[in-house]
Amino acid sequence: MPSKPLDEPEEPDTKPLDDADISILKTYGLGPYADKVKSMDKELTDLVGKINKLTGVRESDTGLAQPSQWDLAADKQMQQEEQPLQVARCTKIINPGTEEAKYIINIRQYAKYVSGLSDKVAPTDIEEGMRVGVDRQKYQIHLPLPPKIDPSVTMMTVEEKPDITYNDIGGCKEQLDRLREVVEMPLLQPERFVTLGIDPPKGVLLYGPPGTGKTLTARAVANRTDACFICVIGSELVQKYVGEGARMVRELFQMARSKKACILFIDEVDAIGGSRGDDATGDNEVQRTMLEIVNQLDGFDARGNIKVLMATNRPDTLDPALTRPGRLDRKIEFNLPDLEGRTQIFQIHAKVMNMDRDIRFELLARLCPNTTGADIRSVCTEAGMFAIRARRKSISEKDLIEAINKVIKGYSKFSATPKYMVYN
Ligand SMILES: Nc1ncnc2c1ncn2[C@@H]1O[C@H](COP(=O)(O)OP(=O)(O)O)[C@@H](O)[C@H]1O
Ligand SMILES: [Mg+2]
Repeated sequence: MPSKPLDEPEEPDTKPLDDADISILKTYGLGPYADKVKSMDKELTDLVGKINKLTGVRESDTGLAQPSQWDLAADKQMQQEEQPLQVARCTKIINPGTEEAKYIINIRQYAKYVSGLSDKVAPTDIEEGMRVGVDRQKYQIHLPLPPKIDPSVTMMTVEEKPDITYNDIGGCKEQLDRLREVVEMPLLQPERFVTLGIDPPKGVLLYGPPGTGKTLTARAVANRTDACFICVIGSELVQKYVGEGARMVRELFQMARSKKACILFIDEVDAIGGSRGDDATGDNEVQRTMLEIVNQLDGFDARGNIKVLMATNRPDTLDPALTRPGRLDRKIEFNLPDLEGRTQIFQIHAKVMNMDRDIRFELLARLCPNTTGADIRSVCTEAGMFAIRARRKSISEKDLIEAINKVIKGYSKFSATPKYMVYN
């Protein structure tokens, strides 16, 4: 057993701290710029608060609040107190703006009523052609409703920004410039187009061999803009029942039109944009969907804030009606990256990997001519596999060269690039 010291040492007299000591203690552990950083921080938060105040309340697009703000208990109580409403459409307003305004409502095509407002809604909230909620006894209007949009269409908006930026795209400088010109300028400086009297391009077609970064670019655009970004894969628009695909397209554009600014991206359009042959085997439903897109592209004003991006790797199969100027005015080809581009792509992918310091990326880029960005990415991954097999912590140049031999030379028969070159 450890023995305790018998007589504990007497506590020394403590001297109370004076102000100077306290101020020294307060500065303990602070860097020379702590004060400045703090005041800067405060200024920034003030500024953000001011900006938020100026921009006002941001309405959510669907009318739904965030799940964190749901109050289920109160909702349940309200459900018990208030009767359920019926959805109707207000087709006409008689004597609008006066005291005795009356509203004609249609309930699901079969019933028509002339009714008034309940005391909960303001007359300015109700417009002709709106969906409204009415009660079941007196058919008074109780609630203005947002336009009806298919939930599967609402799901397609990209809410969270992808973490791809323009810096993550190697090469393709010219393509990026041309794309930004179309997408960003009309949204940021519309007056330039108005003064010249020209319509900015409505749509852009991105085409090129698979794996050259078309989808990647669209995601970078989504990251850059504040506009609402809707992303659809062409095959999603191919539906089972006749007319469904066309209806989805209509609703997509309707939703896009309801936003302040919107970018609609349709990836792999060849799924629906195939050219109309006269053979009877052609899928009519698919063609109808495509025609609806054509129709919608004609339907909106180019100065309106909808921009349509489409991507494909078989531009030759697209219907000429879709690609004619006035619908998709700009066609941007994503080609195989050149030497500089390949070097950049190597560097971009190497940045997130643990690589030796002095790797000659330009040499590596020289070793893989005629490759796409996706091939280069696969080379980097394969080099990582070699390093793992050899139980090393970082990737050496030798790994990369071996990987190039394996991926570029070995898998060349799988490459889609030569086929693309033949077709286009
Ligand atoms: N220019 C590029 N810069 C950097 N990475 C690229 C580039 N092109 C392709 N990649 C890589 O290849 C992958 C596939 O590219 P993607 O854009 O999906 O091809 P596609 O043109 O067929 O849509 C990307 O996730 C990216 O990692
Ligand atoms: Mg793609």
